Amino acid sequence: MKVKNIKSFIDFCKSMEISDSIGRQPRIELKNKSKRPLNEEIKLKDRLDTDCFNLVEKLKKLRGEIKNIDCNLKDISTNLVFSDGKEKSEVMLIGEAPGADEDKIGKPFVGQAGKLLDKMLEFIGLSREKNFYITNIVFWRPPGNRTPNSQEIKICLPYTKKHISLIKPKLLILLGNVATKSILEIDQGITKVRGKEHFYFDESLNLKIPTRAIYHPAYLLRNPIEKKKIWDDLIDIHSFLTKNNILIEHKKND
Ligand code: URA
Repeated sequence: MKVKNIKSFIDFCKSMEISDSIGRQPRIELKNKSKRPLNEEIKLKDRLDTDCFNLVEKLKKLRGEIKNIDCNLKDISTNLVFSDGKEKSEVMLIGEAPGADEDKIGKPFVGQAGKLLDKMLEFIGLSREKNFYITNIVFWRPPGNRTPNSQEIKICLPYTKKHISLIKPKLLILLGNVATKSILEIDQGITKVRGKEHFYFDESLNLKIPTRAIYHPAYLLRNPIEKKKIWDDLIDIHSFLTKNNILIEHKKND
């Protein structure tokens, strides 16, 4: 791998608290979005505003449907945790289930794992304020933060799939084993699946969405040694986004 921007790699290691040498070099080159003529930009903005209004309405409706799901977790949690981030996003992330912080606030990934995730994604120009949307497979907190069981996943999964079909991202990022196995319908664990190209298919809607699976940030917090591997996954995601002309904003200080 050729070195293009050592500084971002060093910043990444510092921010992720990776102190030992990684031995592989980064290749990050954040580019400006291409410039469009002004009137084209305005028309595009109008269209996006209308699309976004419709989408927000559809998402509200989906949230209402989820509220009525017959899931045992509903009665023992504080809040339904639906989503966070920009609705009109080209990148959608899916985690496992809310934890204590998420249950309290009603938003996904607001605790320690969420903070680490935001930090990681910031390195490749992704932020929930600007350009990604995030949800979970299961919408309520399993007691004691246990892994959701197969029944809970089975009940929630059709709604998560509907969620994907509304957002229609150009890239789906699955966080950890539960999201990866449920969405890709495979038995292999994240260690085998990460670093490779996958697709999520919804045949009834003729959807084929490029998908990547990465370690869950909570796993990285428990196993800091694995943080090294996330760099390669981020580089891969960044290069997919660049190649396909998806988003990419300048990162801070770049
Ligand atoms: N872990 C998850 O999988 N989802 C959250 O929302 C928070 C932690």
